Amino acid sequence: MTKPSQLQLFNSTPESHENIQSKILKERAGTFTDNMKLPIHRWFRYSAGFSATWVEKVITELEPKTILDPFAGSGTVCIAADKLGVNSYGVEAHPFVHRLAKGKLAWVVNIPEFLETANQIKHSAAMLQPKLPEKIPALLSKCYTEETLRDLFRIKQAYLDLAPFLSEELQSLLFLAICAILRSTSYVGTAQWQYILPNKRKAKTGEPFDALDKQVALMHEDMRQMQSIAKSSLSIFVQEDARSLKSLPNNLIDLVITSPPYANNYDYADATRLEMTFWGEVNSWGDLHETVRKFLIRSSSQHVSKDRLSLDILIAESIIEPIRDELLPVCQELENIRGTKGGNKAYHTMVAAYFTDMAFVFRALRRVATSNCKVCFVIGDSAPYGVYVPVEQWLGKLAIAAGFDFWSFEQIRQRNVKWKNRKHNVPLQEGRLWIEGEFMAQSPSHKFGQDLGKLLEDIVEYDILKPRLQQFAQTKNYYLDWQRSRPARSGKKVTWEDKYGNKHDLDFVIEIDGTDDQIGRPVAFIESAWRRYTKHSKNKAQEIQGAILPIIELHHLSAPFYGAILAGDFTKPALDQLRNNGFAIIYIPYKDVVAAFREIDFDVAFDEETPDESYTEASKRLANLATSEKEKLRQALMRVSKQEVDRFMDTLRNCLERYISKIILVPLFGIRHEFESIDDAIAGVDALNIDNPSGEFERFEVIVDYSNSDAIRATFQTKALLSDFLRKLGS
Ligand SMILES: C[S@@+](CC[C@H](N)C(=O)[O-])C[C@H]1O[C@@H](n2cnc3c(N)ncnc32)[C@H](O)[C@@H]1O
Repeated sequence: MTKPSQLQLFNSTPESHENIQSKILKERAGTFTDNMKLPIHRWFRYSAGFSATWVEKVITELEPKTILDPFAGSGTVCIAADKLGVNSYGVEAHPFVHRLAKGKLAWVVNIPEFLETANQIKHSAAMLQPKLPEKIPALLSKCYTEETLRDLFRIKQAYLDLAPFLSEELQSLLFLAICAILRSTSYVGTAQWQYILPNKRKAKTGEPFDALDKQVALMHEDMRQMQSIAKSSLSIFVQEDARSLKSLPNNLIDLVITSPPYANNYDYADATRLEMTFWGEVNSWGDLHETVRKFLIRSSSQHVSKDRLSLDILIAESIIEPIRDELLPVCQELENIRGTKGGNKAYHTMVAAYFTDMAFVFRALRRVATSNCKVCFVIGDSAPYGVYVPVEQWLGKLAIAAGFDFWSFEQIRQRNVKWKNRKHNVPLQEGRLWIEGEFMAQSPSHKFGQDLGKLLEDIVEYDILKPRLQQFAQTKNYYLDWQRSRPARSGKKVTWEDKYGNKHDLDFVIEIDGTDDQIGRPVAFIESAWRRYTKHSKNKAQEIQGAILPIIELHHLSAPFYGAILAGDFTKPALDQLRNNGFAIIYIPYKDVVAAFREIDFDVAFDEETPDESYTEASKRLANLATSEKEKLRQALMRVSKQEVDRFMDTLRNCLERYISKIILVPLFGIRHEFESIDDAIAGVDALNIDNPSGEFERFEVIVDYSNSDAIRATFQTKALLSDFLRKLGS
């Protein structure tokens, strides 16, 4: 059986620079590729971190007055805000990317003027003597034929000659148009990403003048469309540092949407190396640090190595204090592993520097944001050298320390699950870190109930029960399925159909002959539920029953095991209902949950009279539980649930290890008697002579009795069907 999905961002052996870059970028591929179909967004390919459609949805729902993206990149958020007529600020520190974004935000330029200038550039370029610079940078020679490069340089020269006479917006627009053709006219692989792969050849290469025509036509079409929706751009896009946001006023921003660099070693400076080399802004990879990297968040090992940082100094920064106790051991472990690796990457200082930088970002954001603002960071965690870095938790804590009130994490996907040569076993995730200026949940008790339920579910299902199920499945050669990506099915959910064709998402299913690539025969179905109050517990029990029993009926010929894990307040009738219907149950009553929380001095003994403030406080505390507190809680819940879990596992084992104690087979023969009324039927029964049976074969009645007192009752019309059933019983 293949192990659960593993992700790899950092290899333990040195790998080619190109491979590492393209792998890291695949994480974000799902999001920026969506944008490549959208007007304006598609003008230049860049790792947006999220889709523009999602940004528009958030803006529409939250109705902010002024939005900020402090890591604005190519401007996805600002363009979405422009489309919806909302004020926005974009902050980007990468000088070249900032320039590209300015080009996109110039969608408002007068269209005939744009077309005329583009034409002018094309004609002047065609008239120019094809001339190459004396010393061509190595990257350009690797990427273009001489002929292509000559044409590109003619276009560049024509643009530079004309630029001083153009408005800033027109300049940005045409600069972007030329940048946008540099990848399509290169004959080497530019991957699906900006990073160039000089060793890969493309089957089809664009010719520069044609490519420019096409790009201008595309921009023309998109400008027309955008101008029919919005009159002007309401974006202010600046080149500066998210750690200070110095040109932004105080208390203005009521929504922040952003995707910062991840602590995953991706080098943003390298992303535009080809374009910057073409424009003469860098000559080699070595130039990137001074021209770009030094302005950015320290999220790559190249960055920190160049700056020769010391872990002691970084960790002593007072701004890092809220997470220092957790951060230091991680950095020290990375430093230790570093000594054993050939690559010798400075991940220990990279991680420390990254969180220091992000702490400054939150401080700056708190200053520019309104008191009740909402902040959404699309982020991913990482595991350099296989050492897990809980990014969302640490960022959440830094945000609270900077003066925000609340954070929560919404997972979107597990990352890199399909990478083949995985070298570490750390599952990683990507999602949205929501941070709130003021905690404004509509119903604090409901919110608390949800948060507590989620935590209990994670602990009981994934920390307590899953390892037991896994161990059981492994020793017995069964396959355990739970919510995560699995090649045999689409999506993450464990979905099974019932006898009516309805689909249900379950928590665990055990299969015979299942593999990662193949769904097996189900032999156990397990579902979980949490109830904060007793009042709807019967409904919840009915819901579980309604989902599971029709699935069991569909598979009744194999009499699968089915069980429920319940935590919180369930009434006795609710529990009895499930038990009477054959469910095995793990039940952790709310009083046990309260006792477990008491071990970390956290009082959750609330009832319907508890005031909202207590719930709000409790939710905050829940969101900020330290790892050590969670561990204590886990241990306590494990203790209180031990008996229940043991009993549950025994029932499961008995069911799956049961053996047939008896098979009763009754062939039925007879004559069909049909009656029109009850009286006639009674009279018919009286007249029946059962001492002298006669008639034809009707069907087989079968009863299979198992050692654990499970039983299967079935009827079959033919011998073939019956034999088939009996053979399957044995397999
Ligand atoms: C994931 S990208 C964001 C992409 C963006 N959402 C878009 O629509 O293109 C992260 C961006 O943060 C920028 N960045 C890194 N450090 C920065 C800093 N200190 N201040 C502002 N921007 C920074 C990088 O250059 C990169 O463009």
